[in-house]
Amino acid sequence: MRHIRIFDTTLRDGEQAAGGALTIDEKLEIGRQLARLNVDVIEAGFPHTSPGDFKAVNLLAQELRDVEIAALSGFKREQIDSTWQALEPAANPLLHIVISTSDIHLQHQLRARREHVLDLTQDAVAYARQFTSHIEFSAMDATRSDLDYVCRIFAAAIEAGATVVNFPDTVGYAQPDEFGRMVAYVTENTPGIDDVVLSVHCHDDLGQSVANSLAAVRAGARQIECTINGVGERAGNAALEEITMALRTRREYFQADTRLDTKELARTSRLVSNFMGMLVPPNKAIIGGNAFAHASGLHQDGMLKERTTFEIMHPADVGVSDSSIVLGKTSGRHAVRDRLKSMGYALDEDEFMEVFRAFKDIADRKKQVTDRDLEAIAQQRQRQAFHQAFVLQHVQVSAGTGSMPTATVRLLSDDGTEFSDAAIGDGPVHAIYQAINRIVGVPNRLIEFSVNAVTSGIDAIGEVTIRIEADAKVFNGHGADTDILVASAQAYINALNRMLAGLGKDWSATPEAQAIVHAPPSEG
Ligand code: KIV
Ligand code: ZN
Repeated sequence: MRHIRIFDTTLRDGEQAAGGALTIDEKLEIGRQLARLNVDVIEAGFPHTSPGDFKAVNLLAQELRDVEIAALSGFKREQIDSTWQALEPAANPLLHIVISTSDIHLQHQLRARREHVLDLTQDAVAYARQFTSHIEFSAMDATRSDLDYVCRIFAAAIEAGATVVNFPDTVGYAQPDEFGRMVAYVTENTPGIDDVVLSVHCHDDLGQSVANSLAAVRAGARQIECTINGVGERAGNAALEEITMALRTRREYFQADTRLDTKELARTSRLVSNFMGMLVPPNKAIIGGNAFAHASGLHQDGMLKERTTFEIMHPADVGVSDSSIVLGKTSGRHAVRDRLKSMGYALDEDEFMEVFRAFKDIADRKKQVTDRDLEAIAQQRQRQAFHQAFVLQHVQVSAGTGSMPTATVRLLSDDGTEFSDAAIGDGPVHAIYQAINRIVGVPNRLIEFSVNAVTSGIDAIGEVTIRIEADAKVFNGHGADTDILVASAQAYINALNRMLAGLGKDWSATPEAQAIVHAPPSEG
């Protein structure tokens, strides 16, 4: 069996997805979860492009010692310098340099000739060698490049010290058999390629990214670059979970496998979906809500007789648990702590007590608390622990037939001031958002709102995911509670906090909000 290296780029290419921006704390949480999933490489960001990326790469490099940490850089020396500054603390750094190789890019973007780009490549890799011996070189838009030129540029990069060469289908143009042939051609015609890792990086513009990546494995590629849930630029990147399970389920066919702990796939997928505000469609392979649901009578009959009639993977192998009833309102600290620990949450005493209080609150309202519920509670706490301009303290709504939906909210700002206000709206959620707007007072537009039940049953925890737009940027928000109006308020506060951080706005209370602190209308 060949070992296929999984290079996860959720935090770099994945985060480039429109509206998918993550905070530094969220990147750290996702990075920790990717380490639990046991990926080989985590590409943590593009440090030269933003101080946030620089910090995230630097913190992940300091913290995650058992996984390779990669950071992307352009070919210029100052870009390589700052990328290395961010990456330096890593125990296993991988400095990733990219340069375009297609004539389209050379002519319109780089405005440079092939020979010059070849020199730039050699110079960039040789320069980076003074910092580290582990360097990846990517030939951007490789699938629309002259393949003999890609072979020459790969050979130059290898000669200068690259240890990984990456062949990206940047615009998602290639078809699987064609892509496989390209990878085979590069393998056969690049001097020195046997001594380095050949990697591929596929985008999904024509829906072929996973098929292309797998065709590349058959043709000899040893590393696949991919993202959780397939998030990424435009139509996204190849989905990590699909690649991993295709290799695991068809190991004999591919004669290859990864080292991933696939039981962590479902949880990693939910974490990324929640933090990025990008919902996973029910029919999505491996991690979609229906991926293991057998609806037709014929299939159910087959499943009852013998599971393998209609199931090629066991749900438990991707972390979708069968037996989900675990805890209830009589469960004590010990049981909850144990359960959280086995789910991979390493919480200190204060953090645990916060989760435990939230658990008790939910358990009072809900008979059975499942692993998924507990995960939603723990993730909600994680979100609240990140720096926030506001925390929701209280929300109360009055609505119903013939009445005017009215909401009262109380928020706590990061300087410890409490603000209350009330508003009416077209519906209860609108009323809540109007009341919050009266306090926060930063104009924005709600562009997406969705509610999902975490588990089945009338008492299920509802997760609300929203997107808001401000200054032509999109920010997402997420909230979870058995009361979907509370979850809606949490989601909006979460999105506003990201918006304030993302726009770099220092918030100061609106004149109305200040007045209300001193004389709340509810007291009048
Ligand atoms: O799509 C692409 O070509 C990239 C490179 C940086 C590898 O993301
Ligand atoms: Zn890409």
